[in-house]
Amino acid sequence: MAPTVAAPAARQLHFSLPPLPYAEDALAPVISAETLKLHHGKHHKKYIDTTNQLLEKEPLKAASLEEVVRQAKGKLFNNAAQAWNHDFYWHSLSPKRQRPAGALLHRLEKDFGSYEKFADAFSQAAIGQFGSGWAWLVDKGGRLEVMPTANADTPMAHGIRCLLTVDVWEHAYYVDYRNERERYVSAIFERLNWEFAEKNLG
Ligand SMILES: [Fe+2]
Repeated sequence: MAPTVAAPAARQLHFSLPPLPYAEDALAPVISAETLKLHHGKHHKKYIDTTNQLLEKEPLKAASLEEVVRQAKGKLFNNAAQAWNHDFYWHSLSPKRQRPAGALLHRLEKDFGSYEKFADAFSQAAIGQFGSGWAWLVDKGGRLEVMPTANADTPMAHGIRCLLTVDVWEHAYYVDYRNERERYVSAIFERLNWEFAEKNLG
């Protein structure tokens, strides 16, 4: 009888810290180089490193960070989701000032009434999130909505399409704005990457 061939062990997943899509000083003065160095180089890196360490102890059958986030629970979910959220956040920001245009502007006007009403709802979600979390613009079943999430939670884990996000953990703004989240949220509108949001539209 032929010996049973053992299935090859699942390839160990290992993630690297993705580089910022711009220079560390590119978002100044809205977000300083000091904040980006710390936020990307320390906080984001720590989420990636911890995700890798946890995957060594509890391997998952996953091929991407998105799949890890969708399958994981507890500490692994928190770290993998934060790793994914931060990469999405860097891409949600742009060195140049943009305004939504074209199909995306049309969708914002249809679902919120106007760009200004969207901006109000997004600000309220970001400022009103109790404690740490995120504010998102999402496409939920064909309708654009604003969605806050707490801690590491991410709409992506719930099968909701993300267009844009703002990190409202204190580490995102404390160096530049101290505890004044309102001032950070107000300034971030000058750095939202609407080209990225439009690419994410369904
Ligand atoms: Fe963060």
